[in-house]
Amino acid sequence: MNELPKGIHSITRLPSAPLGELWDSIVMDEDMKAKLLSQAALNFTLRSKVPRSVIPLHGVIMLTGLPGTGKTSLAKGLAHRVAKSFGSNTFRLLEVEPHSLASAAHGKTQRAVTDLFGQAISEAAQAGPTIVLLDEVETLAADRGKLSLEANPVDVHRATDAVLVQLDALAEKHPNLLFVATSNFPKAVDDAFLSRCDLILEVPLPGKEACLLILRDCLGGLAKVFPEMRKLVDGKGLEDCATACVGLDGRAIRKMVANALASDQATAMNPGSVTMSAIVAAAKAAHKARVKEGRA
Ligand SMILES: Nc1ncnc2c1ncn2[C@@H]1O[C@H](COP(=O)(O)OP(=O)(O)O)[C@@H](O)[C@H]1O
Ligand SMILES: [Mg+2]
Repeated sequence: MNELPKGIHSITRLPSAPLGELWDSIVMDEDMKAKLLSQAALNFTLRSKVPRSVIPLHGVIMLTGLPGTGKTSLAKGLAHRVAKSFGSNTFRLLEVEPHSLASAAHGKTQRAVTDLFGQAISEAAQAGPTIVLLDEVETLAADRGKLSLEANPVDVHRATDAVLVQLDALAEKHPNLLFVATSNFPKAVDDAFLSRCDLILEVPLPGKEACLLILRDCLGGLAKVFPEMRKLVDGKGLEDCATACVGLDGRAIRKMVANALASDQATAMNPGSVTMSAIVAAAKAAHKARVKEGRA
């Protein structure tokens, strides 16, 4: 771990079965998943052959959406699926840590960004097809138009400038490089970054059917350990529970199930005894908490 260049959180050889499971665990319109995968595949089939003057692809895909909608999971899972569709074991996933770069000592962010993109990422791309996860990219490519110079150090502006310069240079030099960026706050991302994205996909909140599938997956997983819970997965109450979940994100749905398991001491000591009404109550409580926090 200590060997990793600054700003890189991890390097994963692809394909990777756990990342495949992440991709599968996200319940989403299949057309949307297919679109994401096609765009990523095109990056590796087209960019090395067609000049950028003909098709100006930058090799950047952006996933936006509310927190907890599965963006990070999809981005990592996508890396696995691309490698798998090429039947290749030469692909690598690099996970960047934007926060560690942005919090680098004052005045050093621009340098850290330039080193990361210009050296570490460039070297990885030279070694083989590389997918780079830029999670929560608003920290790295903050909208310069919205930053007041007083409130934000000039360093943040320079970091965004550096990211853009480096993206252009990498797009020119490395056709076998794909960035997958995520953001909970696309309005906070610089327009020049957004205009470089080849695809911007908004990941929606799950609808009723998706809520049902998430609940089934979550309770089904628990039933493997607590077989008494099987009756909840197969019971009629699940539909109503899914209705009670509409408006919550996928993470909130899984978390509210955990809340239901902790709704009283007896259930916490014997999680298999949880009832559907306790789960529905937890879903309603999750909605209320949202309204209170102004997130509904
Ligand atoms: N559409 C979904 N289907 C199933 N699980 C989901 C979905 N959206 C989120 N989750 C669950 O929520 C958790 C958080 O997802 P994550 O990818 O970190 O979301 P984000 O990056 O959008 O905040 C994951 O463990 C995932 O299982
Ligand atoms: Mg995320």
